[in-house]
Amino acid sequence: MTKRRILVTAALPYANGHIHIGHLVEYIQTDIWVRFQKLRGHQCLFVCADDTHGTAIMMRARQEGRSEEALIAEMSQAHQADFAKFQVAFDNYGSTNSESNRKFCHEIWEAQRKAGRVVEAEVTRPFDEQEGIFLADRFVKGTCPRCKSPDQYGDNCDKCGCTYTPDELIDPVSTLSGTTPTMKATTQLFIQIEPLHDFLTEWTQCGQHLQDEVANYLKGHFLGDKLRDWDVSRPKPYFGFEIPDSTDNCWYVWFDAPIGYIGSTHDWCQKHGEQTEDWWKNPDTEIHHFIGKDITYFHTLFWPAMLKTAGFTLPTKVHIHGFLTVDGEKMSKSKGTFIKASTFGNHIDPTFLRYYFSSKLGSRLDDLDLSFQDFIDKVNSDLVGKVVNIASRAAKFISGSELCDSYPADEGLFEQAAAEGEQIASYYENCDYSQAIRLIMAQADRANKYVEDKQPWVLRKDPEKATELREVCSVALNLFRQIVIYLSPVLPEIAQKTGELLNDPITSWEQSQTPITGNKVEAYQHMLKRVEEKSIEIMVEESKAENSAEAPAAGSQWNDSAEPLEAEPLAEECSIEDFVKVDLRVARIIEANHVEGADKLLQLTLSLGGDATRNVFAGIKSAYAPEDLIGRLVVCVANLKPRKMRFGMSEGMVAAAGAGGKEIFLLNPDDGAKPGHRVH
Ligand code: MSP
Ligand code: ZN
Repeated sequence: MTKRRILVTAALPYANGHIHIGHLVEYIQTDIWVRFQKLRGHQCLFVCADDTHGTAIMMRARQEGRSEEALIAEMSQAHQADFAKFQVAFDNYGSTNSESNRKFCHEIWEAQRKAGRVVEAEVTRPFDEQEGIFLADRFVKGTCPRCKSPDQYGDNCDKCGCTYTPDELIDPVSTLSGTTPTMKATTQLFIQIEPLHDFLTEWTQCGQHLQDEVANYLKGHFLGDKLRDWDVSRPKPYFGFEIPDSTDNCWYVWFDAPIGYIGSTHDWCQKHGEQTEDWWKNPDTEIHHFIGKDITYFHTLFWPAMLKTAGFTLPTKVHIHGFLTVDGEKMSKSKGTFIKASTFGNHIDPTFLRYYFSSKLGSRLDDLDLSFQDFIDKVNSDLVGKVVNIASRAAKFISGSELCDSYPADEGLFEQAAAEGEQIASYYENCDYSQAIRLIMAQADRANKYVEDKQPWVLRKDPEKATELREVCSVALNLFRQIVIYLSPVLPEIAQKTGELLNDPITSWEQSQTPITGNKVEAYQHMLKRVEEKSIEIMVEESKAENSAEAPAAGSQWNDSAEPLEAEPLAEECSIEDFVKVDLRVARIIEANHVEGADKLLQLTLSLGGDATRNVFAGIKSAYAPEDLIGRLVVCVANLKPRKMRFGMSEGMVAAAGAGGKEIFLLNPDDGAKPGHRVH
């Protein structure tokens, strides 16, 4: 078999949100494909990155009062932790806001310029005077000019389906500030796609670069007409890369996002002494993109057009999948079915989701449904009841000793499953995971039947049957191992544990073709615990709560002013070690007095419970009368170094917010907190 050289990408997740179970369809699908290729002995590189640019990130950073860089750094960490938890193993995880990406944006842009593909045009766009930015279509809402439905986005109406430009909306408002946008002229840059029409027709329709349904969709919807110029610039302020020859503008996020695939490859090459050209300008390298159906257009028309003009390798294949629904419906925040990867992982072993998705994924674009009851039934019955069951029933009778030195007669079971190896492999290759799983589960059924027929638990009671017992266990564990090898792209953790159990790490597909003999069998360690219905219920409840807690952070509902934060910008970052040095405690004010000769201070006696008290001079006289304070709980800095003042020793501070004067607000803990409780 010739060794292929394969570059694989999954779509770059937006940095403005957490990874959820819908995303995971894609990342798990892709990871399985990559693990499969590696297992087959091919050289396969799996790269991804966070997609960091655009208005949404900029606005969120503003709202949270921090830099875009701080926001995207945090999200990148969170995304990578989620992927690790779901055993999605990238060779490199980059960022579109990186120097490597900028470099390739420049290169690809220059190529478009050289080829004469860039044109300029003056357009008027909605402008939010209050925020000082041009508004993307989805940041403008108003009433549909045709059917008069209220609350429609600036590009199309989801009631009557008509499309329009934002200035045609009736009573448009900016979703950012709630103000009415004005129309303002700006010069935008466009890349012409039409000159590549023939190329794109050829590339999309011939050569199996796309699934048939995708090729037909493009032919039916786009390729029959003239291809429109692509609007690739956005006026500043915009969080993105400045366009070198049009410095009032940045590239639109969708220009630099796919180039991030190249940037991330480059980062990997730098770390591994390889050349980026060997991956992106080498006809011997296959390039496979995995994406969801919503971003088809960008990856099957614009992206090939960019690559073609700039002399990069065209994708060998763009693999497109459908969308996840939960219990037959779109994921819903209020129903608790919009489940974050981290929340899922806190309640249910990620291995189960990998298996469930695989059992449902085919090579077409159909949506796939996570039905909770089906999920519980399937993973418990297949993984716990069938697969792991083989090992748990056979291993305990042989652990501590060795498998037979030659593979015993097994009614042809191993050979039969070995012969199915190539069929299973071709299902994986074509992303027909559900078919692969179907074949493998039939093997598991046969293996279970074998164990049932041979009844090792009965053999074990008869010392004369010791040899037979060892043979039966050797067969069962070999059949188990063979199944796990076939499943190892889906279940890497189980593969790892199986390797440990049998002292033979699973590293290659070929291992499925030959039984192992003489290996020591370790003590059987539990591999999987059944999924309980209760865990799902708790997870759904938690997701509901998270989403209702998150809503205010989105800003629109409360519309809090940015002024307090702007008046006092955030302090320099501190470490958790720095923070824990400050010992904040709940305290009760047991005495409060005016201080003679001090016009701003009150003297407070704080109790930390028991006999512990602190004498504190607090600058809150302008906002509080002493008699109103007695008895209430506050938060105090309890380990502040005592300071001698004109009026006596001050032994701490009480925590208060506000600008000063009448605007001072003491913090008080929720009911239940007791003096002496530490505030973390
Ligand atoms: N940032 C763009 C991709 C840029 S690629 C150069 C983007 N990001 S995303 O975070 O919205 O989505 C990432 C991937 O997850 C996309 O391929 C998208 O189709 C997929 N999915 C997002 N929600 C999904 C479901 N509910 N179900 C299945 N896949 C989903 O798009
Ligand atoms: Zn309408």
